[in-house]
Amino acid sequence: MNRLGPEDYQSNRHIRKILRLAGATRQDVFYDLGCGKGQLCVVAVTEFGVRKAVGIELHRGRAAKAAEYVRELGLSDRIEIWNEDYMESDLGEATIAYCGHTETEEDVPHFEEQLGARSRFVSLFLPFVGVVPTAVDYPFYLMKLPFKKTDDASLWISEVLSKKATLEELYEELDSDREYRYDRRLFSRLLRERFPGL
Ligand SMILES: C[S@@+](CC[C@H](N)C(=O)[O-])C[C@H]1O[C@@H](n2cnc3c(N)ncnc32)[C@H](O)[C@@H]1O
Repeated sequence: MNRLGPEDYQSNRHIRKILRLAGATRQDVFYDLGCGKGQLCVVAVTEFGVRKAVGIELHRGRAAKAAEYVRELGLSDRIEIWNEDYMESDLGEATIAYCGHTETEEDVPHFEEQLGARSRFVSLFLPFVGVVPTAVDYPFYLMKLPFKKTDDASLWISEVLSKKATLEELYEELDSDREYRYDRRLFSRLLRERFPGL
């Protein structure tokens, strides 16, 4: 493990959930932002038939392994692996993007600017704070561009938990989830910024 986090990869069953939730088809170009060994791209191409997949991976060794894996499978004509920081990548061709990282302050404006109209973004564990998900298959949230935003905290919380709940109940559920971690301080700040009534 290093500062980029562990090699902690989604299972094929979870990967299919992501791609089904996004409604991936042959017309799509799928981007995995932080692709690790590249398995999401492989499933996107081989099982969902997407036209092209791009895996972006900042860790040089992981990116090299992913590129080698793609070559071994004979998929280099359909899958590109880019060894770079996805926050500095050109995402203009993506129709579906997946990112499993915790939301940062820049994410919403950045992806609004980078992703084309009618593209889809899938997140893990939480949707972007203040963005109403189009569909949910926990732990994944689908958000279509242009993002549908709300400053109604109750509405957003009910979309996150799939039930009406208070802010305290939201924290209780997030804190007791054994699978996923989140940055509580950053999350609280984003809540205060995006829901002025809180
Ligand atoms: C937990 S792995 C997930 C891999 C794969 N997406 C999956 O879900 O199975 C996250 C990967 O993102 C990479 N990563 C972290 N920050 C990144 C960044 N800013 N740009 C590109 N890759 C990044 C890490 O090196 C790590 O390999």
